[in-house]
Amino acid sequence: MEKPYIFITRKLPEEVIAPLTEIGQVTMWPHEDVPVAREVLLAEAKKADALLTMLSDCIDREVMEAGTNLKVVANMAVGFDNIDVPVATEYGVAVCNTPDVLNNTTADLTFALLLATARRLVEAAEYMKAGEWKSWSPFLLAGTDVHHKTIGIVGLGKIGQAVAKRAKGFEMSILYHNRTRNEEAERQLGAVYCTFPELLQASDFVVCLTPLTAETRHLFNRQAFQLMKRSAIFINASRGAVVDEEALYEALVNGEIAGAGLDVFAEEPVDPSHPLLSLKNVVALPHIGSASKETRVKMMERSCRNIIAVLKGETPEALVNTEWLQHKRA
Ligand code: DGY
Repeated sequence: MEKPYIFITRKLPEEVIAPLTEIGQVTMWPHEDVPVAREVLLAEAKKADALLTMLSDCIDREVMEAGTNLKVVANMAVGFDNIDVPVATEYGVAVCNTPDVLNNTTADLTFALLLATARRLVEAAEYMKAGEWKSWSPFLLAGTDVHHKTIGIVGLGKIGQAVAKRAKGFEMSILYHNRTRNEEAERQLGAVYCTFPELLQASDFVVCLTPLTAETRHLFNRQAFQLMKRSAIFINASRGAVVDEEALYEALVNGEIAGAGLDVFAEEPVDPSHPLLSLKNVVALPHIGSASKETRVKMMERSCRNIIAVLKGETPEALVNTEWLQHKRA
């Protein structure tokens, strides 16, 4: 029997993807730092039984239509808003992701971003390197305290709970908002459930970790920022489009909120002329939430396991579209 054809949309380490080469014929886009060209993705999808994709790849109806043999799309991310999941299901294609392995790494980064924004770490480091430090001064680069403040987590999933654990270490009060209450997390973490407006009004740090869906697109709009404390710091480590960036810019410029730490943007990579990048009270990062070497390797390994399971006719460990089980492509 012919080996299945697997296309990987970025260059990944050969030793990590070795389990795929054992079961299939593998082709990789040859660049680590350049996304796959659209025409290459479409041409490869035509031949592929499996695609190992990145969050920067748009996997839409056109890809599904091209992929007449396609059985699985394994996204190397926990988020899957780059994939049209209902269309994949319609075509009998399994969609898989990489939950769990990145929870602590992403929570570390989210908390680091919160600390960096509150304590003005990036500004301070730039100030030092620019040779501007002339004397110790009482209010030189004075930020705001994190310990004993109130953190409001929007999206208390596994990453949100890992952030809450870190907040507990800083003796913070923890508020959260979710579509559904999580009473176990309330018991374990002492987190208090709030409506969205209540959370915005009461939090010193508003942390966005909710996935991007039709419901959450622009959840953080003008009205949301106006409800926050003027001293509040907004942190986003989920997806950029959950935020109306124009509204955020206005809120920061008009002093409606005090600062923002952003790991994600609506359009990535961000154009250097993006207005938010011009603000001193914004700490901006290039979507590095899960970017530790250890975790990225685990995400690659998990993506490989997802593909192997589907190609062997098994149920993958991280299946997004469970309806696929009834609509599998043969
Ligand atoms: C994910 O996995 O969705 C994260 O955004 C990657 O950093």
